[in-house]
Amino acid sequence: MSLFIRKSMASLTKEAEETGEHTLKRTLSSRSLLALGIGAIIGAGLFSLTGIAAAENAGPAVTISFILAAVGCAFAGLCYAEFASMIPVAGSAYTYSYATMGEFIAWIIGWDLVLEYAVGAATVAVSWSRYLLELLSSFGIHLPKMLVSSPWESVSLSDGTIYESGILNLPAIFIVVLLSAILIRGTQESSRINNILVVVKVFVVIMFILLGWSHIDPANYDPYIPANTGKFENFGWTGIATGAAVVFFAFIGFDAVSTAAQEAKNPKKGMPIGILGSLVVCTILYILFAHVMTGLVNYKEFAGDAKPAATAFAVTGYDFLQTALIIAILAGYTSVMLVMLLGQSRVFYSMSKDGLLPKFFGQIHKKFRTPFKTNMFFMVFVSIFAGFVPISDLGHMVSIGTLFAFVLVCIGVMVMRKKMPDLKRSFRTPLVPFVPIMGILVCVYLMYALPIESWLRLAIWLAIGFIIYFVYGKSNSKMRNPDKYPPDDKHEIPEDIPPMI
Ligand code: ALA
Repeated sequence: MSLFIRKSMASLTKEAEETGEHTLKRTLSSRSLLALGIGAIIGAGLFSLTGIAAAENAGPAVTISFILAAVGCAFAGLCYAEFASMIPVAGSAYTYSYATMGEFIAWIIGWDLVLEYAVGAATVAVSWSRYLLELLSSFGIHLPKMLVSSPWESVSLSDGTIYESGILNLPAIFIVVLLSAILIRGTQESSRINNILVVVKVFVVIMFILLGWSHIDPANYDPYIPANTGKFENFGWTGIATGAAVVFFAFIGFDAVSTAAQEAKNPKKGMPIGILGSLVVCTILYILFAHVMTGLVNYKEFAGDAKPAATAFAVTGYDFLQTALIIAILAGYTSVMLVMLLGQSRVFYSMSKDGLLPKFFGQIHKKFRTPFKTNMFFMVFVSIFAGFVPISDLGHMVSIGTLFAFVLVCIGVMVMRKKMPDLKRSFRTPLVPFVPIMGILVCVYLMYALPIESWLRLAIWLAIGFIIYFVYGKSNSKMRNPDKYPPDDKHEIPEDIPPMI
């Protein structure tokens, strides 16, 4: 049987009905979708990786990096929107590719999404930990040095404290464990809480821009595009491209909007507004924010600084606002991590339901009705990454993994238009094949601009995935081995598994 066996649309629709997905109500207005996108997007990418990209890759021209990354996301976002309006089943890009490009590609994408969601949550957790240290130090509290950073990085706080080469990053592990526990209990953010968090986050960003603007020192913009040092990724135009691949992380999350397609009141209008609107709003905010940040402090000073927003804001002298800024950033990160950890458990849940992963990952807690074993598994997995790996390595892995997923989704849209041209799509990607092809080109270019180590890590990660597929998934897949499963073999179906967001 072909490696590329596909799920039929009929089976997906049936599955949607079986899992109770059809009970999802169309309650999300375009405004809620927009808030959803912004809520999932603004996080560590802006408040942390901006500094790293400026210090190592682009200098003040990190603003141009943001524009490049936004363009790639816009193309991919349009493709996500079409799929989301067409295939109303949990699992996001994994499910889309099962229907279009077959099981093997679906497996690859599902496996790859671990880099986006699980490693993404770890990245945000490390940044969260940095801002927590900054907050505690403002109250004169210092945690034991050995317990606040991974062995391969150092952290400097604005009060001059330097933490070097610790044993593990305990605060990052703490937040992952806490959020996983919340997810296991089934506590979900309501749309209202999300809206409040979004308002707080956007308010903080605007406050940073407005208050910081008058303290900009134009000397910090000279040179705006630092000369390339001879290495592809260090400055000049190639550095800007690398910077785009790094800050691309800051845009991740808009795909979460597409997962809510079946909950949109009017997906035709709501999807473009939610996906493209949040991208536009975030791009404008990001460019202004990066402009102010690199204007307040020279880009070189952000080297190794995982909480550059606080470092930059310290220049303004609004000390009392510094604490409010950090608390708001910490709160804002929380929603991003929750969505990522939840997204991860959803993808593994779907893969387990299809037989590609052991039943363990699909088991539902009797009382809480959540896939608690997956949550616990990823609590440990994400904790290991958050506790021991430096933030820039994590960020690069997430970016390359997500870009790869975007490429596959763009290809999927073209395949689906050919194979099933008449299928009802509430939202159609405009200008096919131009938009998906551009999406592929920009995403591949951004992947190309990432450091070679990221490619190696992606290759190793995919190689592990291949082994698992050929050792386990292929012989247990429900599609390939229908005889192995009695017709009434259904996973426990959660009635009230929390919605994606
Ligand atoms: N875009 C999200 C962030 O920057 C993942 O935290």
